[in-house]
Amino acid sequence: MTVSTRFTQRFELATPIALAPMALAAGGALSAACARRGALGLVGGGYGELAWTQREVTLAYQLLQDAPIALRRLGCGFITWKLDEDASALDWLLDQAHTPAAVMLSFGDPRPYAARIRARGAALICQIQQLSQLPSALEAGAQVIVAQGIEAGGHGVNALQGRSTLAWVPELADALASQAPQVMLLAAGGVGDGRGVAAALMLGADGALMGSRLWATQESLAAAGAKQQAVQTNGDGTARSAVFDILRRKNWPAPYDFRAIRNALHQAWEDRIDVLAKDPQAARADYDAGVQAGDFSRAHATVGEAVGLIHDLPAAGELIERVTLQMHQQLQRFGPQG
Ligand SMILES: Cc1cc2nc3c(=O)[nH]c(=O)nc-3n(C[C@H](O)[C@H](O)[C@H](O)COP(=O)(O)O)c2cc1C
Repeated sequence: MTVSTRFTQRFELATPIALAPMALAAGGALSAACARRGALGLVGGGYGELAWTQREVTLAYQLLQDAPIALRRLGCGFITWKLDEDASALDWLLDQAHTPAAVMLSFGDPRPYAARIRARGAALICQIQQLSQLPSALEAGAQVIVAQGIEAGGHGVNALQGRSTLAWVPELADALASQAPQVMLLAAGGVGDGRGVAAALMLGADGALMGSRLWATQESLAAAGAKQQAVQTNGDGTARSAVFDILRRKNWPAPYDFRAIRNALHQAWEDRIDVLAKDPQAARADYDAGVQAGDFSRAHATVGEAVGLIHDLPAAGELIERVTLQMHQQLQRFGPQG
């Protein structure tokens, strides 16, 4: 059985899965491994650091020199509000001889960057967290919209305003069906195995974007200690807040905050975020020392609620195969012969 959707057809994929462009974790090796096994491989250009993006995108291209179809499944993602400060990494990406399959923009207004991305022949993917963000994504000419729920690891819209994947994805599917039926939809947030990918399809998406589960793989650039902590943490063990952004000196604009493992340092500050924001020096020193020591009771491990589905750290290609097989099994259970 193969699952064919508009998304798999458009990007020549063997499975309706995209690797989330996770800042500092989704490097060249992870993106290439995902693309080789048939998924869309998005390098985590994140904060738009030029040297990092150059190194990891170049590595991904090199790793797939022998695999022309997989090479065409590579793209890159950026944090949009950081591009407003410095877009040199995006400019570099679009200047390369190889055309990226897609550029994904999240967390900010995509319109200033849309024309040059589409003019270069790359698909524009916009990740949104609320229905109110849909008009600007459509105006930008997004070919794919990612509906990100608050279960997601990393940044997203805070719990006050954010949406949960289960109701958000079908609502957005309906909105696209009436406003822009040619635009594809991916579900993101809490998709950690083949049940989640099958569910995304059932909810009306053309595929799923997976972050946390692919973060916990051999090729991911996340710290080994963080990955180990994730294996030992269940889905109750994450929280969404501004704590780690304050500790990391990241000036994220409202309404965004960050989901990671709710470790001891997070718990020490989560009820006193105003105090932390006002006087962060001592806590930052504690955090920095934790990072330096690889102590994840203080340093952060960026995963979402799907951490409860992470029990091992396989090679990414093996994981994509496993998830795809389970997706097929789920879909067959409810098919005509099921
Ligand atoms: C470690 C990590 C880093 C992330 N960094 C980014 C990023 O730089 N840009 C972005 O658009 N999304 C980022 N995300 C969010 C993903 O795009 C995606 O929405 C999320 O991972 C989906 O939920 P899941 O983690 O439950 O699979 C990140 C997620 C994780 C786990």
